[in-house]
Amino acid sequence: MSEILRLQSVSRRFGGLQALRDVSLSVSKGEVIGLIGPNGAGKTTLVNVVTGVTPATAGTVTFDGRDITRVKTYRSARLGLSRTFQIVQPFAQFSALDNVAAAALFSQPGEGLKAAREEARRHLAFVGLEAQSGQQAATLTLAMRKRLELAKALAMRPKLLFLDEVNAGLNSAEVERATELIHQLAADGITIVMIEHLMKVVLNVCSRIVVLHNGQLIADGQPRDVMTNPAVIEAYLGQQYAQRIGAHG
Ligand SMILES: Nc1ncnc2c1ncn2[C@@H]1O[C@H](COP(=O)(O)OP(=O)(O)O)[C@@H](O)[C@H]1O
Ligand SMILES: [Mg+2]
Repeated sequence: MSEILRLQSVSRRFGGLQALRDVSLSVSKGEVIGLIGPNGAGKTTLVNVVTGVTPATAGTVTFDGRDITRVKTYRSARLGLSRTFQIVQPFAQFSALDNVAAAALFSQPGEGLKAAREEARRHLAFVGLEAQSGQQAATLTLAMRKRLELAKALAMRPKLLFLDEVNAGLNSAEVERATELIHQLAADGITIVMIEHLMKVVLNVCSRIVVLHNGQLIADGQPRDVMTNPAVIEAYLGQQYAQRIGAHG
């Protein structure tokens, strides 16, 4: 498989805080990777570094053979790097349709509003928001806004898609539905890196798992190896398990 994304010794500092430390990672076309780790581990920062929101303070990022370390967000988006936001942020007053059409126009400036809305309709249908296309984004439920976020990301025509906790706050039926969508995107050949706390979802869709802890990459491999890695259990999985027990007892 050919490489689509490479991080070489990437670090990101925020003042005195080292949010990412010497992270190296190679992603091949078509892979579906789960990015896991405790809160504050640096997962969202990794996405922000790759997409140019908060560029790396050291190291290099290469996408599709091109150095994008210092590339601005809008440029990387047009190159085919798309992401959803952990905190969803639609244009609240726009309809669902026009939120997605805006993303389509942004990615294909020459397209024209009519064609952009056509395309938006397709993406809304794909995520199951056809009936809500005329509804103001602000009035959608959280689950619907998460799906809208996904439709917007798809309108950017991604080669690589980062999903940042798309299932957080959703009920189990909604999670199942989102998981099905992710399977379909993967089947369409989109490379996916998903930040996800629900291990059930990670194990269902990911062929590889990468673990961050305190800004460092502590494991990278096949799910069965990562899940039994003592350092990963110590840093994250044990705590996940304890939380589940706590929630039920
Ligand atoms: N823009 C920022 N300014 C300052 N600190 C930040 C910023 N973004 C993230 N951080 C810090 O970097 C660390 C990693 O955060 P984040 O990447 O959001 O973690 P995760 O997504 O794994 O929960 C945290 O300590 C967080 O407070
Ligand atoms: Mg995060």
